[in-house]
Amino acid sequence: MANRWPTFEGRNSAILLECVRHPRRTGAVASTPLCCAEAFIDRLAIEEARHVVELGAGTGVITSALRHRLPSTALLLSVEISPALATQLRAKHTADNVEVVCGSAAELITILNDRRIPAVDCVISSLPWTLMPIEDQHRILHSISAALADTGCFSLLLAASHTWTTAGRRFDTLLREHFPHIRKERPHWANLPPLRAYHCRLSDR
Ligand SMILES: C[S@@+](CC[C@H](N)C(=O)[O-])C[C@H]1O[C@@H](n2cnc3c(N)ncnc32)[C@H](O)[C@@H]1O
Repeated sequence: MANRWPTFEGRNSAILLECVRHPRRTGAVASTPLCCAEAFIDRLAIEEARHVVELGAGTGVITSALRHRLPSTALLLSVEISPALATQLRAKHTADNVEVVCGSAAELITILNDRRIPAVDCVISSLPWTLMPIEDQHRILHSISAALADTGCFSLLLAASHTWTTAGRRFDTLLREHFPHIRKERPHWANLPPLRAYHCRLSDR
């Protein structure tokens, strides 16, 4: 049976090492628990998606859960800034419908233009938003809103405890400036700190 809880082997040692090297950029000492990733993916309307982007794929727990839920015709672009993690992701995800891009989420529009993808149906992120400079938050959110199809959805996982901090409240305000329709889920307690999913849209469909 698959291990649904984090162990300090394999992917967790990879992210722990990355966190020691780049703590603010990594934002986690362990990968997202599989049960959190699956609960998150279960709430996404991706059955008919053609283009899906994951920002900050890390060790690929969400990538794997996503890949199994996407239609076979969909393309998943997984963007990861860490060269070490991106190399591991590429080795693990060799399917034709998954492309791992080593780069920054801030380059999203260039990444899509290079592949002639005009718009995406869904953007998913577990980026460490509240640890980023506000200019980067603004730039990435602007790119996501420009990349999304009118009916698209931007879904993110955020540490619930961060939402009460000054940085968390500032991010919340910025999120609302970019996305008029936001639905927040209850926290997933299987992660420490608990994770909360947000689903953000440009229109109410
Ligand atoms: C909280 S971790 C993601 C954990 C992931 N869900 C997992 O299970 O391994 C955040 C990830 O975002 C990546 N990241 C941070 N800033 C980024 C950026 N600007 N563009 C792309 N990836 C970024 C980090 O390198 C890290 O792998």
